[in-house]
Formats: sequence, C-alpha cells, structure tokens
Amino acid sequence: MNVLGIESSCDETAAAIVRNGSDILSSVVSSQIKTHAEFGGVVPELASREHIDNICFVVEESLAKAELEWTDLDGVAVTHGPGLVGALLVGLSYAKALAYSRNIPFLGINHLEGHLYSVFLENPELPLPALSLIVSGGHTNLYHIEKMGAWKLQAKSKDDAAGEALDKLSKRLGTGYPGGPVIEKIALLGNPDKVAFTIPKLSDKSLDFSFSGMKTAALRYLKKIDFGMLDPLILETPEKIPGEILDLAAGFQESVIKQLLDRLDKCLLKKPALSIHVSGGVSCNETLRKRIREHFAKKNIPVYYPGKALTTDNAAMIAAAAYYRLRAGHTDSWDLPADPNLRLQERL
Ligand code: KG4
Ligand code: ZN
Repeated sequence: MNVLGIESSCDETAAAIVRNGSDILSSVVSSQIKTHAEFGGVVPELASREHIDNICFVVEESLAKAELEWTDLDGVAVTHGPGLVGALLVGLSYAKALAYSRNIPFLGINHLEGHLYSVFLENPELPLPALSLIVSGGHTNLYHIEKMGAWKLQAKSKDDAAGEALDKLSKRLGTGYPGGPVIEKIALLGNPDKVAFTIPKLSDKSLDFSFSGMKTAALRYLKKIDFGMLDPLILETPEKIPGEILDLAAGFQESVIKQLLDRLDKCLLKKPALSIHVSGGVSCNETLRKRIREHFAKKNIPVYYPGKALTTDNAAMIAAAAYYRLRAGHTDSWDLPADPNLRLQERL
C-alpha cells in the first residue's frame, strides 16, 4: 500500500511516500527556517504563504523521487492539527482536492500521532509496551504505548514546550530561531554545573512537565548580569562567547534533560515498559540522546530515536501513521476541519 503523506502544520512543507507503513520511497521537506529566522520565531502569515508557493512542487517531487504515478497511490494522508490554522489549511485543502479528483482514500492525521510513529519507521518491530516521549517546539507529551495503535497520554507540559523554552532563550540571546540547535552548540563549551535551575515538583502528583519557570529564571539571570545580546555571527566562533553565557546554555540544556529523565523514571514506576521512544525536534540533540540512552542502559531498557531526518517535522511520519488506519478501512469525510488545538489523548 503506497501512502502519500502531506505535512504543513508549522514551518515545513513536506510530502513523502511510504509503502506498507515503514518503507520510505521518498521524503521531501522544504524548510522555511530562513524566512522566520530574523523574527526569532515562526510568523504564521508568512508560513501560510510559503506553504501555498511550495506545496505543488513538494508533492510532485515526492512522486518523482518515488518513481510513481498518481494512479499508484492507495491513500492520501495529511496533518489536520494541531498547528497554525492557515498553514494546516494549505496541506489539508491540497490533500482533499487530490484525493477527491483522483478518487483515492483520504485520511486526516494528528501531527503528534505522526511523531509517535516516526520511531517505528526505521524500527517496525520495537519491543512493546513502551513509553514514548515527544519533545518538540509545540509539545512535550509522554505516552504509554500498550500495543501497536493503542496508547494513552501520561504527562504533558503545563506551560511551555521544551523546544519552545530553548527557542525563547535563544531569541533573548539574539541568536535567532530555531533555538535548540544554537543552545546545543554553545552548551558544548559551557559547564552545566555552574548555573543551576530547579526541576519543578508538581503538587498534584501529576507527572506533567513545566519549562516556563526555568525560562523566566534564565531571563532574570541575564538581566542580573546586565547582558545585552549576542551578534548571531559569533556562532561561527562560539569560543568567543562570554563564559557565563556558555555556562548558562549548558545549565539550561542540562536542566531540560534532567526534567525529562525525572518524569520518565516516575512514569516507569506506574507503567512498566520494554523500550523508551523519544521523538520530535528536540530529540535531534546529541547530548540529550546520549544522556537518555545511558540513563536507561543502567536499567536495561533500550532507547530508540527516529533517524535525524525523521526527528523534526516531516511527512513520512504522517504517511506511516496513516497506513495502520487505512489498512483497517478508516477514511475521513471531505468536511474534516483543520483543528489548531487538536489533542492526542488516547486510543485503546
Ligand atoms: O518537531 P519539530 O520540528 O516541530 C514541532 O512539532 O514543534 O520541533 C522543532 C523544535 C524547535 O523548538 C527547535 O528549537 C527544536 O525542535 N530543535 C532542537 C534541536 N533541533 C531542533 N532542540 C534541541 N537540540 C537540537 N539539536
Ligand atoms: Zn512536530
């Protein structure tokens, strides 16, 4: 079964063709990072316009790379939420028009479900049950996957997502968007023990995450030391960045990792798992990958990540998620709306 996936929920226009849920025939991602970088974050109106400019080329390229014709497609799947409503509408309208005119089964997919499946793309036989952590720019969600296609949300961020906190720190430092890769780069040169942040303990015994407190503490620290902004060009010679900023970045990143480990450990006590999955843009971070892997190696639990290209937003993960539902005969109707606040709670 050849499924065309389409993703346009934020700042990547992406299309991919995946055969039988795990065989990636093509995956094309057109990133808008350059457009948004100077604004320190994604500008929704600019994102929608760029999706409109790119969607046709991106889908046609995915077909050409897969060496397939339109008639070879057995399903069209598209992200219909959560995300920026104008951006979502571009992919959704395109997908509906294509599926309707070519008489192909059509399915809307939750973007978060895509991230959950991104880990299975290169490892279809992962040991289950599993804990699956999505750490992205918009979400920090922890799921328990009982078996393929059945999961339940265990924890989410009460405020900022982990990636959002990294993006905001970078914006304040003047080093632009996306912030995660910048903080990763400069944190390598800093001492993570010099600037400490507390890991929030939540009174209601929930396992929820919280990153806005540490973000505020970092901004307060910068004010206290009366630090202005960096010239983004300094990232070419990061050793010239003042030591206290390197230490701040290292301490901040360390604290994000510690909080993720803390919640994973606590969740494991409630929900035993045979593997840990970590996906979403923040899981590109090499320090984070190493730390989580080493932490669970001590408990004999293997940790799996998607390949780097499948970690940030892409359409292969959307096609992979759709395969299992299309195979079971599910389709969506033509009035499926774009839902900017779509949630992913449970499927049992
Ligand atoms: O999954 P994603 O591409 O989009 C969302 O669904 O949000 O994640 C984007 C997020 C951004 O916050 C970005 O700063 C972060 O992933 N990110 C990273 C790294 N690369 C991207 N965070 C930490 N380290 C990285 N290397
Ligand atoms: Zn994402």
